[in-house]
Order: sequence, then C-alpha cells, then structure tokens
Amino acid sequence: MPHVLIVDDELNIRRVLAAMLKREGYEVTTAADGEQALAVLQKTPVHVVVTDLVMPRMSGLVLLERAQAEFPDVPVIMITAHGTVDSAVQALKAGAFDYITKPFEQEELKKVIAKAARAHELERQNVHAAAAPLVGASPSMRQVYEIVAKVADSPSTVLITGESGTGKELVAREIHRRSSRRDKPLIKVNCAAIPKDLVESELFGYEKGAFTGAVGSKPGRFELADGGTLFLDEIGEIPVEMQVKLLRALQESEFERVGGIRTLKVDVRLIAATNRDLKALIADGRFREDLYYRLAVVPVGLPPLRDRKDDIPLLVEHFIAKYDQRLGKKVERVDDEALQTLLAYGWPGNIRELENLMERSVLFADGPVIEGASLPDALRERTPGAATPIAAVGPLGAIAAPSGASMKEIVRQAQAELEKELIGRALEETGGNVTRAAKRLQISRKSLQVKMKELGLRGGEGEE
Ligand SMILES: Nc1ncnc2c1ncn2[C@@H]1O[C@H](COP(=O)(O)OP(=O)(O)OP(=O)(O)O)[C@@H](O)[C@H]1O
Ligand SMILES: [Mg+2]
Repeated sequence: MPHVLIVDDELNIRRVLAAMLKREGYEVTTAADGEQALAVLQKTPVHVVVTDLVMPRMSGLVLLERAQAEFPDVPVIMITAHGTVDSAVQALKAGAFDYITKPFEQEELKKVIAKAARAHELERQNVHAAAAPLVGASPSMRQVYEIVAKVADSPSTVLITGESGTGKELVAREIHRRSSRRDKPLIKVNCAAIPKDLVESELFGYEKGAFTGAVGSKPGRFELADGGTLFLDEIGEIPVEMQVKLLRALQESEFERVGGIRTLKVDVRLIAATNRDLKALIADGRFREDLYYRLAVVPVGLPPLRDRKDDIPLLVEHFIAKYDQRLGKKVERVDDEALQTLLAYGWPGNIRELENLMERSVLFADGPVIEGASLPDALRERTPGAATPIAAVGPLGAIAAPSGASMKEIVRQAQAELEKELIGRALEETGGNVTRAAKRLQISRKSLQVKMKELGLRGGEGEE
C-alpha cells in the first residue's frame, strides 16, 4: 500500500488525517515540521507527501522546493487556508501535485491522494520502462553498440555526448545493464537540477550540523552508488568550484562528507553525459580540462537523428509497437505519405521528439494506419534554421486578424503568436529541451509546459 507522509504543525490535524488514511489502508508517517519531514523522506520510501502551507520554521512552500530538489518523483499535495488562491497558485507553480483548501472534505483529500499515489506509481513504471532497447541499424549506431559492448564491463569512465533526446541516458543504462555491476544500483544525478550550493552535499553527503538545516547526516550519491554505477547527467552544468572536488573523488575514489572528517572510499563506475560542447566550455574557462580528460576516457558520441535518417523507419515501427501495446490500440504502421514527411523533417528534439509524436499519433489513430494527413502541419513547415526572425516580422506582421476584431482580440492573438514564435525558437535552440528552453525564456518549466499546451506546441522531455 502507498506510504503517505503528513506534515502539519497541529497535532490534532495530524491525528485526524493519519486515522483517516490508515482506515483507507495507507501506511502513514507524520511530521510536525519541514525538517522532520525531510528527515523522514531521507530514511523512508514515501509515495505521497501532504503538507500544510503555513507552518513555523519551514513553510510548506520551502518544504516543497527542497522535496522537489531531493525527491523529485514524490508528489506533494499542499493544504492551503481557505480563500488564499494566491498561495495555491504559487504552490502549483512551484511544482505541487495539487492543493486542497481548508476546511476540506475528507473525500476530496482521499481522491487527490489516490490520484497522486497513482501518478507516483506510473512515474516509477516509466523509469523502469526506460530500460527500453536501443533501436537503430545505421552505421553510426552500430559503432555505438560496438563501443558499449566493449566498455560495458570495464571500470573505465564513459563520457556520452549528443544533442538532447539522442539517447544518452538510454546508453548509460545499457552500459550498466551489461556490466557485472548490473545487480548493484545505478544512481543518477542530474547536475542541472541541483542548486549550486547543494551539489557538494548531494554528491558526497553531509554530517549532522554541517550547515543550517542539516539535522541529521546523509549519505551522498557516491556512497549510494557503491559497488554500482554513478551516472552524472548534464555534467556540463556542474559548478567550476565543484569540479576540483569531483576530480579528486574520481582519481582517488575517496572523499569526505560535507562537515565530515572521515575519508570514505567507494567503488563506483562513473558514466557522465552532456549535450554541451565541453571543449567550448573549457575554452570559456567554465570546465576544467583535467576533469574533461578524466571523464572522457571512453567518449561515446550519439549522432543527431537528422544524421541517421535511415533509422527512422525502424524507430517508427518500434514506437508504434510500444505505444500500441501500452495504449491498447490496434495500430500497425504509417502510410507512405506519413513516412515521407517523417523522413523529410529535421527532428531538432531527436528521438524523444519522434517518440512523443508517435505516442500521440497512435493515441489518436482511428484505424490500423497512421495517415500522413493526420500529422501536425509543423512537421512540414518547420525545418531547423528556417525560423523567421521576429525582428523581420514585427509583432503585427505575424498576425492576420479578421477585420472588425476588437483591439483586445487582436492583442491577444498577437501575443499568442509572439509567444509561440519565442517558445518555438527557444525549443529549437535547445534541441527541444523544455527545462533549458524555460531557463532561456526566464519562466518556470511548469509555466512553459502550460503555455506549450495552450499554444499547441509539441512537448518534449520524458523525465526530470
Ligand atoms: N536508439 C534508441 N532507440 C529507441 N529509443 C530511443 C533511442 N534513443 C533514445 N530513445 C528514447 O528517446 C527518449 C530520449 O532518450 P534519452 O532520455 O536517453 O535522451 P538524452 O540524450 O538523455 O536527452 P537529454 O539530453 O534531453 O537528457 C527516451 O524515451 C528513450 O527511450
Ligand atoms: Mg538525458
């Protein structure tokens, strides 16, 4: 049964909620404040967190943020006071799974918790489904398979490079799966997702009292990966100050926890990945050359999909079979026109973009064949690099407002067009990576996703 963590400073509320959820069959743990909650999360596999917003010491929002950084797959439900719509919106923006306003109906809360538990379970299954096979028979992919086969069972560090969505994570998992470490953990760290000042404690752990908020001690990812594989994703984003410490840990296989004096030794196989040009970062002084050479013992470069288009038919077939089964449909293939369109397109988001499109196409297909006409127009229009610069169009140039439309309507439409253009371009420039596109646009990832939905833009990014 799912495990729910209830966080509230009021004993009575904790008692009532705990009793109610236990009656439903949930496992329940309670915490009186944010610190306690984080301590529980560190020790116990929790499936859903329900937290009050207003609490002394650490607010529900801060707890939400910290939980998101450290336990990104655990959904958090926020309980907000009646009438404070703002804080509810804020909670959602900060990544809360959902919110409930006080006073709430028990039924309502039960429903939201059940929904969150289900979402968590699906997420977990997805992570396992990520053990998908590598598909592709092009010469460049064959070369990748060869390297993977050769290095999988060696202790050598592997550096996987390639644009977003080219399968870097898949290759990392494949290497782990084929090594003798396969029964030990594969620990992934997304260096781009960890706040700068938390990178060290995340990687190396910390001792009690190392900094404000370190109420207990915690092992870092290096320790968790002992005997197994540590996958440092988006290694290009790791702060320069941390690179020295990382280099030492790699070279000597030893390190200290933050605030600790004991030197810890671990046996870890390292795989790193990035879609950045590390050589350029080195030239900019943002990446240490010595670390680069330590990581790139075995470099694996994944080709962008546009450079291995002969794999598209195979991939299409693979994804149709995958989603046909998962979605319980009876789709068999794409027609010739569709295949031609797919072959002609530039795929800035690479395989992830193709996979998302195939999932959607299978979902919406009426019969056994996905027809060319059913594919989004954008596939025919958008060839990478062909975007019209906004300056050349001007905000009014982009719209064809029907005459007689109100000013408000025209402005709304122009804004939508402009947003679409800016978002489309940011996505193109980041190879379809929503997180980075959001950074570039200086909006949150959540609101970018909402906007993309509103504007009917193609989504990207499976995880993170
Ligand atoms: N060769 C392949 N065969 C089948 N599926 C693939 C292949 N390569 C990638 N995929 C699928 O495409 C999606 C994106 O792959 P992955 O997450 O490994 O990309 P990535 O290079 O790590 O991207 P990012 O830089 O954005 O993190 C995943 O769903 C993965 O299963
Ligand atoms: Mg990745």
